[in-house]
Amino acid sequence: MEPVVLSGSGNPPLAAAIAKELGLPIGAATVGRFPDDELHVELHEDVGGRDVYLVQSFSPPADRALLELLFLADAARRSGAKRVVAAVPYLAYARQDKRTKGTGPLGARVLAEILQTASLDRLVVLDLHSSEVIAGLRIPLEHLSAIPLLADELGESSRPASVIVSPDGGGVVRAEAYAKRLQLPVAVVHKTRISGSEVSAQAVTGDVRGRLPIVVDDMISTGGTIEAAIRALRAAGCAERTTVAATHALLVGGAIERLQRLGIERLVTTDSLPAQATLPFAV
Ligand code: R5P
Repeated sequence: MEPVVLSGSGNPPLAAAIAKELGLPIGAATVGRFPDDELHVELHEDVGGRDVYLVQSFSPPADRALLELLFLADAARRSGAKRVVAAVPYLAYARQDKRTKGTGPLGARVLAEILQTASLDRLVVLDLHSSEVIAGLRIPLEHLSAIPLLADELGESSRPASVIVSPDGGGVVRAEAYAKRLQLPVAVVHKTRISGSEVSAQAVTGDVRGRLPIVVDDMISTGGTIEAAIRALRAAGCAERTTVAATHALLVGGAIERLQRLGIERLVTTDSLPAQATLPFAV
């Protein structure tokens, strides 16, 4: 029987693109709200005996996206789907892989345990901030990476004088993966997070003087990390022309204006999250 793609509200254009690429229909479903704001999910498609591909990015509000996924999976399972595969290109909460100040929850672990309870046969994710979120999950999963794709795209912006920059210590392995593909050196900015939207960058390791920076990260949320990194790079004598690449472009809380003020030349990203209306730089 023909498989079917089901979409939550997390990123319908991506679900449509995937369905088109696979030559599959998008299953008719209601994903809305009841008058009291409870989630209302209803399948209008007969999924009995069929493979169901759920496409749901955890775009803000992530809590809602998570519940939609759980409800869609449950609805598909109870309607007799043969297999339920969830593609979650952006999995939120992966950054909460440590207890803040030793007093907060281990959010990534909580999320992993919730996913464990979902009626999923397979989970497909893309460039997780931390694989802690999926560590020990007892469902088959695939952790895909957009780095090869983004690195190919960066080929256009790359020059012999370019340098790949990790905006923090946690991103060094990622930066090295880009650098290897583009045959460029790596530099690292040392950052400290002050709040959800503010970070401070203390020092740059690596030879950046006069070089053209390509700053690579897994995600851009408020743009605070990228801003601090670029300011530190410029203070260290890096050239102004800057390219930024990140798998997930959340771009919340004035991030677009923030990046625009920095005069970024190009932002290379994926469609793991719904596109922002118009971005004021080449994408
Ligand atoms: C943190 O370690 C991540 O890799 C990103 O650098 C960070 O989450 C981006 O967030 P923001 O854009 O708000 O600084």
